[in-house]
Amino acid sequence: MSTEVSPPKFPFSRPSAALPPAEFAKLRATNPVSRVELWDGSHPWLVVKHKDVCSVLTDQRLSKQRQRPGFPEMNAGGKAAAKNRPTFVDMDPPDHMRQRSMVASLFTRERAETMRPHIQATADALLERMIAGGCNPPVDLVEQFALPLPSFIIYGILGVPKEDLEYLTKCNATRSNGSSTAAAASNANSELLSYIGKLVDKRMEKPEDDMVSKLVVEQLKPGHIDRLDAIQISFLMLVAGNATLVNMINLGVVTLLEHPQQLADLKANPSLAPAFVEELCRYHTASSFATRRVAKEDIILNGQLIKAGEGIIASNQSANRDEEVFPDPDKFDIHRKRGSEEALGYGWGEHRCVAEGLSRVELEVVFSTLFQRLPNLRLGIPHSEIKYSEPSQDVGIPELPVVWD
Ligand code: HEM
Repeated sequence: MSTEVSPPKFPFSRPSAALPPAEFAKLRATNPVSRVELWDGSHPWLVVKHKDVCSVLTDQRLSKQRQRPGFPEMNAGGKAAAKNRPTFVDMDPPDHMRQRSMVASLFTRERAETMRPHIQATADALLERMIAGGCNPPVDLVEQFALPLPSFIIYGILGVPKEDLEYLTKCNATRSNGSSTAAAASNANSELLSYIGKLVDKRMEKPEDDMVSKLVVEQLKPGHIDRLDAIQISFLMLVAGNATLVNMINLGVVTLLEHPQQLADLKANPSLAPAFVEELCRYHTASSFATRRVAKEDIILNGQLIKAGEGIIASNQSANRDEEVFPDPDKFDIHRKRGSEEALGYGWGEHRCVAEGLSRVELEVVFSTLFQRLPNLRLGIPHSEIKYSEPSQDVGIPELPVVWD
């Protein structure tokens, strides 16, 4: 009989609400590079210290290619998806940057700043509509605001005509909403893909000023990519961050309601929104499983040998609470003194979120507007009844009933 102890099962569970799993703090103190066991019985390495996570995410000896044996997949769906044609999110240099740069310029901070008036107008219009509908019974903030805002913005960038926005937003919600049946989610996925396919064909005939046209004119027509690549890249940009952004909006609202003094500070001074968003993206890590890699050769990480073919999960969620980098890390504090340290909610290194700039501007618009327009916005249910995502999934709030007066 083997006396070997199996490593702990991963993902760990949040103890309650939006609190990160308690195991991370213990491992940071005792075992910063350790084995965990995934759903399929595999034993990748879990890396929990900020400096080690940064080192993993910049190490060229590690790969993001999901077809490589040993790449840690988080569930059976992921394992199946790994067989699809890859987009840049799953590529290594030099292919990664070649494809990423086909769209990256549309999502930079500078570009997003030029879109700020449009994002503001979209947020204002959604709030007006929500307010006009009244809040008796309480209104789901996700349905009325947190979901349509980022959806309308990304669809606009891609080139989806206005009249299709509502339909596509519904498809996307069904696709990513954990409570849809598998069949409904898979149908919605196919509908989205087929919709994008038709959009690519339309832009082949008559390009306009949008992302799909840019891909068609600069890449597809000259033969750098094929039609399937154009569809997959557009699909990636459509779905990659939408659900995460929705969750960050909801988490932001709840976190502010839990910290009334900081909410009062933000209301009195909406220009605190960027500092709030910075702290929000440190405190809550709503995309905590993207930062995975597999070793192409043997490496030593913080004194631990990791062999070629072994998987690595670099926990940006744990790094964001690393007490060596962020003093008093479990305290939410928008007035936190900051130096050169950076939170890792958007990743690090070459795969760092391509749409971070856009995403931050959207969050800044939301949090400099929402409580200005609705100073008495509050939960429409008791705080203890907030519905969070499953404890072992990415932290999120799939629906948020609110009221105001
Ligand atoms: C608050 C919102 C968001 C968070 C927290 C977030 C987080 C992340 C993280 C952690 C990564 C790094 C993955 C890695 O290292 O492998 C990433 C990459 C990526 N994100 Fe985001 N993201 C957000 C919003 C968005 C949005 C709105 C979009 C699309 C419009 C998007 C598109 C992508 C893409 C395409 C990548 C892959 C980049 C690459 O591999 O080069 N994200 N994101």
